[in-house]
Amino acid sequence: MENQTAAMPRIGDPAPAFEAATTQGKIDFPADFKGKWVILFSHPSDFTPVCTSEFMLFGKMEDEFAALGCRLVGLSVGTVSSHIAWLRAIREKIEYKGIRNLDIRFPLIADMTMEVAKKYGMIHPGESDTAAVRAVFFIDPRGIIRAILYYPLVLGRDFAEIKRILIGLQTIDAFGVALPADWRPGDDVIAPAGSTKSAADERMERPAEGVRCYDWYFCTKPLPEEEVMSRGGK
Ligand code: BEZ
Repeated sequence: MENQTAAMPRIGDPAPAFEAATTQGKIDFPADFKGKWVILFSHPSDFTPVCTSEFMLFGKMEDEFAALGCRLVGLSVGTVSSHIAWLRAIREKIEYKGIRNLDIRFPLIADMTMEVAKKYGMIHPGESDTAAVRAVFFIDPRGIIRAILYYPLVLGRDFAEIKRILIGLQTIDAFGVALPADWRPGDDVIAPAGSTKSAADERMERPAEGVRCYDWYFCTKPLPEEEVMSRGGK
């Protein structure tokens, strides 16, 4: 138990490195993905219903994530042959939300020893000590963990939120802004504050063009959706 809970990488940490067998051959992580955004996610088990519904969505959205410069890498405690048999069964038999005949091309890690799952804090013993919870790690092109989500075994992930987080992180990097609650591309963003109180006061008194200040600590400005999306993945 000690071993399973010791390593919990956090936001701002370098993504822990590992080599692993996957449905697409061996990977050296994160080195093989340098210069790309990566969503590394875990699921508890092959041939289970919530996981199957999630793979329909991951598979359907693979090209949308690729268009944002982001690769998907899945992981569960299972063998390559089980993963391949499950992905084939999904393609041949499952329909979910109108999605069917789905070819899943991203790698799915076979983490039989739980070495990677433990490294990433994906084993939560109160939930299961033999299966990974539904973790999502957003890793930037420098290999730094930028956001983490955890879901329990019986709750499928929100894919609109996963995409929103990716676009949000890319927008933060590209435009040097912060993003307020419930932000969506096209919504106003938080204009950067001055680094000193007097700079913030100055900004309040004479806001830059397009900036609206409500008080010295809360200024917003428009950022059109086309600008946000034109920077996606860059
Ligand atoms: C599921 O994907 O449905 C599932 C997997 C493990 C435990 C419970 C549910």
